[in-house]
Amino acid sequence: MFPHTIAAALVSFAGIQISLAQTTLNTLSRDVERVESVREVKDVQKSFAQLAQFGRWSDIAVLFSDNGTLQWGNAIANGPAAIKTWLQTDAGHMDGIRPGSLNTVVTECPLVTLSVDGLTAKGRWNGLRFQGDGQGGTWIQGGIYENEFVSTGDGWKISLLHYYPLYAGPYIGGWRNVGGNLSIVPYHFTPDSAGIPIPPPTGEILNNTATIDQLGHRITKLNDEDAVRNLQDAYGYYVDRRMWPDVVDLFIANSSVTISGVDSFNGATGVLSAMQQMGPENLTQGILNEHIVVDTIVSVDSSGIKAISRGIEIGMIGDANTRTASWEFNVFRNEFIKDIDGIWKFKALHITPLITANYSTGWGNGSLSPLPASIPDFISTSRTRSPIFSSNGTTTNTNTNITDLQRQLNRSAAYDGAENIASAYGYYADDLQSDQLGAIHAANGHKEVPFTGFYHSSTRIALACHTEYGYPNLTALRSGISFHWLMQPVILVSDDGRSANLRARLLQPSTYQEKAGTFEGGMYANQLVLENGVWKLWSTGIDEFYWESKDWASGWSGMDPRNESEVIAPSELSTKYPPDLSVKDLGSPREDGFMGGSGRYVQWPEIQRMWWPYRNLVSGRTPEWFWPGCVPCQMKMEWNLTSNGYLEPPNGPPLVGKGWSSVRCEGE
Ligand SMILES: *[C@@H]1O[C@H](CO)[C@@H](O)[C@H](O)[C@H]1NC(C)=O
Ligand SMILES: *[C@@H]1O[C@H](CO)[C@@H](O)[C@H](O)[C@H]1NC(C)=O
Ligand SMILES: *[C@@H]1O[C@H](CO)[C@@H](O)[C@H](O)[C@H]1NC(C)=O
Ligand SMILES: *[C@@H]1O[C@H](CO)[C@@H](O)[C@H](O)[C@H]1NC(C)=O
Ligand SMILES: *[C@@H]1O[C@H](CO)[C@@H](O)[C@H](O)[C@H]1NC(C)=O
Ligand SMILES: *[C@@H]1O[C@H](CO)[C@@H](O)[C@H](O)[C@H]1NC(C)=O
Ligand SMILES: *[C@@H]1O[C@H](CO)[C@@H](O)[C@H](O)[C@H]1NC(C)=O
Ligand SMILES: *[C@@H]1O[C@H](CO)[C@@H](O)[C@H](O)[C@H]1NC(C)=O
Ligand SMILES: *[C@@H]1O[C@H](CO)[C@@H](O)[C@H](O)[C@H]1NC(C)=O
Ligand SMILES: *[C@@H]1O[C@H](CO)[C@@H](O)[C@H](O)[C@H]1NC(C)=O
Ligand SMILES: *[C@@H]1O[C@H](CO)[C@@H](O)[C@H](O)[C@H]1NC(C)=O
Ligand SMILES: *[C@@H]1O[C@H](CO)[C@@H](O)[C@H](O)[C@H]1NC(C)=O
Repeated sequence: MFPHTIAAALVSFAGIQISLAQTTLNTLSRDVERVESVREVKDVQKSFAQLAQFGRWSDIAVLFSDNGTLQWGNAIANGPAAIKTWLQTDAGHMDGIRPGSLNTVVTECPLVTLSVDGLTAKGRWNGLRFQGDGQGGTWIQGGIYENEFVSTGDGWKISLLHYYPLYAGPYIGGWRNVGGNLSIVPYHFTPDSAGIPIPPPTGEILNNTATIDQLGHRITKLNDEDAVRNLQDAYGYYVDRRMWPDVVDLFIANSSVTISGVDSFNGATGVLSAMQQMGPENLTQGILNEHIVVDTIVSVDSSGIKAISRGIEIGMIGDANTRTASWEFNVFRNEFIKDIDGIWKFKALHITPLITANYSTGWGNGSLSPLPASIPDFISTSRTRSPIFSSNGTTTNTNTNITDLQRQLNRSAAYDGAENIASAYGYYADDLQSDQLGAIHAANGHKEVPFTGFYHSSTRIALACHTEYGYPNLTALRSGISFHWLMQPVILVSDDGRSANLRARLLQPSTYQEKAGTFEGGMYANQLVLENGVWKLWSTGIDEFYWESKDWASGWSGMDPRNESEVIAPSELSTKYPPDLSVKDLGSPREDGFMGGSGRYVQWPEIQRMWWPYRNLVSGRTPEWFWPGCVPCQMKMEWNLTSNGYLEPPNGPPLVGKGWSSVRCEGE
């Protein structure tokens, strides 16, 4: 990805000798810009979503290039002015402007690939849009974006926003497929190119004007952004499980929680009280407290010690015991601080509730809670590439070791490589693309098939998928799709940037021709590696389901407790094409309670215990159900990363003053 120019030694150009140091600096500068480009493309897409939520059509128009195009299904608009008009007309009264209206746009599962010249990019996202006019009208729509971007003098812009509608319908009655049976939305990537978000550049390297400490500062900012993003996403998971002590641990001592229109809370006891508004610590049978974190933009300020995250929180809440459930659409705009121990922490959590609605009736008539008094400020997507920091900043990068700066930069590039492949997994699984699912795994990687077990090697992974899905005619239309959204990732990258742990939420919307689709939820515990310059899945572990919906009308609170006398038959796949390690053999305690695993099958609305691949990212608190490393690795040691020439990524915070012996926590 970032070829070294060290071998070039002295480059002679037009009789002028350019020093090795300058050549290397030029390369580093270009590489930094390419990682920043991928991040900015993602932020532009998220800005589109965040601005749409409040009907900011003029601001959205500015996200497009002068000759940018929007194609929504078959409708086309060219140029910012026409795009603005189209979006406004299309939203109608469901514009997020009218009191009680809702227009929450979700774009997740980014798969972004930069062009070789670094001047254009393509990106795929899953989309969902929750709409209401406040006067009884509602609409839910879902589909896929295959967008194109261009680098301009004014930052990255959308040159083509192409949305493929796949499902849509009103709240009452739910959604169906759009246009009957569904075909595959063309991929802009292959299994290999998905694992190379930033391809090796060609052509002449521009002369860099940044100094080494300016580049170092920008690289540190990228690393910091990763840390803050992880913290934001990890927070969401603790909230889902009502793990209040872990939430409190994420905050510095002098912190605040503000829930607009409700209350403000200060300090550790305040954070706890704020959380307890959602209920007491831990989940009990039938309680769902999902707070899904989407559309997050993170901005680290020029001081390098303060950061903001802004995004959307979708609450899927309920109590199956009383058959009640509700929706929440909130905006968060949180503040973080890099503490004196060098660890990023929450400084202020600020939630602005937009709409709260009863599940049974939906949000058509607006919100059950007071409407927000103001719109939380947006974050600019521009990543100023020119020197922007003052040398008085407390965290000026003093690292002048270019190799080490490259390594630091590789760690942020790894974040995007890992995220791309997690997204690719979801897209290929949605479309039952067995060969591609094999090909995005490392040659010696392994993948779990839920209820069955683990298949070792990319070849056997593909065969297991073929055996399970059959050999569909891939161009044939399908009457239904269960989507695999791998979202809200916590990505912990190894020191050398060649391996990563990735935990992601599985959100599973489904759509059909004949009946309304639903939502289900699970969790992925994955590991990824850089194999021959391409990011691949090393380990895919899937824990499902933590919650399910009975059907659209009754939702997640409509599920009845499982009839214990029902016998769970072994999966067909386990006899047709036996795994290398069955979930039954992996057994207790890891597979206790999962279908096909060991022990009694625990099905929602009973609470299935959740495993954690990392310790608390701030305090290092070890969760009761801690499972570091790959899911089958305690039984199959030869499948672990260290046995295969990779570093085991961290499974907790950096160790500053914590007395741990190794930042990688090897052997834990
Ligand atoms: C859009 O404008 C860019 C220059 O800003 C140009 O390179 C490109 O060809 C144009 N695309 C179209 C479709 O006109
Ligand atoms: C909205 O309110 C109207 C009038 O009270 C009622 O008839 C209608 O059923 C409500 N619609 C929804 C979706 O709640
Ligand atoms: C880079 O700088 C060298 C030396 O000043 C100059 O000869 C060369 O043309 C420059 N290259 C580019 C791409 O501007
Ligand atoms: C705590 O933070 C608030 C606002 O950020 C500030 O006004 C106050 O002085 C701080 N208190 C201490 C003890 O640092
Ligand atoms: C919540 O669960 C954790 C982990 O299982 C346990 O240690 C803790 O005591 C529980 N807290 C309460 C209040 O039950
Ligand atoms: C939600 O709707 C159900 C059914 O109409 C009703 O029984 C329940 O009281 C409502 N809950 C709230 C919080 O309005
Ligand atoms: C920051 O450093 C600049 C010199 O680089 C100096 O002029 C300025 O006064 C400093 N500002 C503060 C607040 O220390
Ligand atoms: C520079 O960084 C690399 C990679 O971290 C390291 O191996 C090397 O020892 C460092 N060189 C110096 C002179 O510190
Ligand atoms: C950074 O990544 C590139 C591409 O994988 C690799 O060639 C290079 O050796 C790495 N540099 C360091 C210092 O780790
Ligand atoms: C697959 O389906 C397409 C469209 O229905 C058809 O044209 C094609 O012949 C089929 N291919 C095979 C191998 O059956
Ligand atoms: C839709 O797909 C189903 C199977 O997925 C198939 O049986 C049916 O014939 C298809 N209908 C059309 C119109 O293609
Ligand atoms: C990985 O497996 C090797 C044996 O192949 C073992 O020595 C090592 O401790 C394992 N590493 C971890 C992190 O479990």
